Amino acid sequence: MSGLRALVTGSGGLIGSECVRLLCGQGWNVVGVDNDMRSQFFGPQGTTRPVVEDLLREFSGYRHHAVDIRDRQAIRDLFERERPRFVVHTAAQPSHDKAASIPYDDFDVNAVGTLNMLVAARDYCRDAPFCFTSTNKVYGDRPNDLPLEELDTRYDYADGRAGVDESMSIDACLHSLFGASKVAADVLAQEFGRYFSMPVGVFRGGCLTGPQHAGVELHGYLSYIIDCAVTGREYTIYGYKGKQVRDQIHSHDVVQLFLAFFRHPRCGEVFNLGGGRANSLSILETIDVLAGFGLQLRSRYRDEPRTGDHICYISDLSKVHEHFPDWSITYDLEKIFGEMIECRLRQRTGGSG
Ligand SMILES: NC(=O)c1ccc[n+]([C@@H]2O[C@H](COP(=O)([O-])OP(=O)(O)OC[C@H]3O[C@@H](n4cnc5c(N)ncnc54)[C@H](O)[C@@H]3O)[C@@H](O)[C@H]2O)c1
Repeated sequence: MSGLRALVTGSGGLIGSECVRLLCGQGWNVVGVDNDMRSQFFGPQGTTRPVVEDLLREFSGYRHHAVDIRDRQAIRDLFERERPRFVVHTAAQPSHDKAASIPYDDFDVNAVGTLNMLVAARDYCRDAPFCFTSTNKVYGDRPNDLPLEELDTRYDYADGRAGVDESMSIDACLHSLFGASKVAADVLAQEFGRYFSMPVGVFRGGCLTGPQHAGVELHGYLSYIIDCAVTGREYTIYGYKGKQVRDQIHSHDVVQLFLAFFRHPRCGEVFNLGGGRANSLSILETIDVLAGFGLQLRSRYRDEPRTGDHICYISDLSKVHEHFPDWSITYDLEKIFGEMIECRLRQRTGGSG
């Protein structure tokens, strides 16, 4: 892949930065777009600027543009100049809970920003595979209608299903404004694939995680809970007795799938993407795993779930496996926790992260 040019938005973020590392490591030239808007969303703790500085230091093939994806003309100019062979669009307002307090910013970034990206790609690099990071929140709270059973430490599906597949309706349920802005972007991305026959892939993420996450309470569950365990900060569990289940996928595995899509793109195809059943765990089980690593989490319980929060969400990965048979999860929970805990401990003791 040496010498090919990719454009990655949100390049300072969890998924974007992993993408830059992987592509630059394989000899790609990468144009990154990130205006550190995460620090506006979540305050200084959410900044991704240090990650961008690391990327610039580490990779001569990386060039950075602090362009705002809402700036339609700037995005068009960038695409016209760079004409990338591969586009990965991860820039977003990523928090379910935050969106209600910033409805215009949320929609402008998530929906309009994605439209800006898609039109520019259509006009300047129509054949370049385009990966869009959507979310399982497009299903709103519909997964809560599935038959569930309560077990000792978690909820699970009562009908024995592996997880949620792509046939679930995204309509007529409670989404949060974030879910709604992502639905708009998700459907737009599908439409550019179908209507303009562009190689656009829509990846509906579950819990995407990794040590690069600038975890804050409102986004980045695993990163934030590990941070609390390492620093001794109190963690608040919101509702469902702490038995709510998420499946965790490491950013490395996410980006490997994007590369698989680059090699075998499809037009407007939707994929659920998470760690799957083997990588699923509840908050109570997360606390147990942390204890296994010698970390005691201080927690308090508020008997009030977050609005629209999923009780049990596990991605059914059948379609991903069917379309990309060479791809598989390489990070199990043990490896994910081990790496993230080690990274946080190193940061605390002053080592580089
Ligand atoms: N992390 C998860 O658990 C998860 C789950 C499902 C879906 N997703 C989706 O995956 C994508 C990536 O998530 P992430 O966890 O890497 O997010 P992140 O917040 O770590 O990274 C997003 C980056 O985009 C940048 N950004 C935001 N607005 C911008 C703008 N207007 N212009 C330019 N840059 C901007 C931010 O500064 C940040 O660095 C998002 O679309 C998110 O909705 C994430």
